[in-house]
Amino acid sequence: MKHVILIGFMGSGKSTVGFRLSYKLKKCLIDTDKLIEEREKMSISEMFAAKGESYFRQKETECLNSLFHELGSRVISLGGGTPMREENREIIKQLGKVIYLQASPDTIYQRVKHDTSRPLLQCENPKGRIEALLAERNPIYEGVADIIIHVDGKEMKDVVQEIVEAVQYEDFGN
Ligand code: S3P
Repeated sequence: MKHVILIGFMGSGKSTVGFRLSYKLKKCLIDTDKLIEEREKMSISEMFAAKGESYFRQKETECLNSLFHELGSRVISLGGGTPMREENREIIKQLGKVIYLQASPDTIYQRVKHDTSRPLLQCENPKGRIEALLAERNPIYEGVADIIIHVDGKEMKDVVQEIVEAVQYEDFGN
């Protein structure tokens, strides 16, 4: 198998699930947000403020392209907006098995309401923003996913176990 790629909205659990999943599957973890921050030597919030969102989006595409050079199979956790560019979706599909962590606006809001590290949600009505963005993004996430995992009301460890089973099943199927 190539890489296992986690997609989903902010707060859907990609980073936490990715961390645990990489341990379970014995694969290294790549978190593209962190990789971009390391390469650019600044946080995503700083990048949005200093260089603008389009600069960050360009770095996301460059980061995705750089993943073709990875030799081993990895768990890759993507930023929530990465699949929105069509060229990114083509790359994501080529990179491996795509898992969508699907969460409701309520679940997301509960998880991110005290978070200040996500510039897109630093607004007057974060709940409304989440609902609007998710309505736009959900069909795109669904379209690029090989496997959809519903995360509402589930513990992270159970989400991880579901992914492990789904990935192993798919692996035998191929
Ligand atoms: C974004 C999601 C963030 C980060 C940036 C933009 C988005 O990643 O890439 O703030 O557009 O949904 P997480 O999904 O890991 O929070």
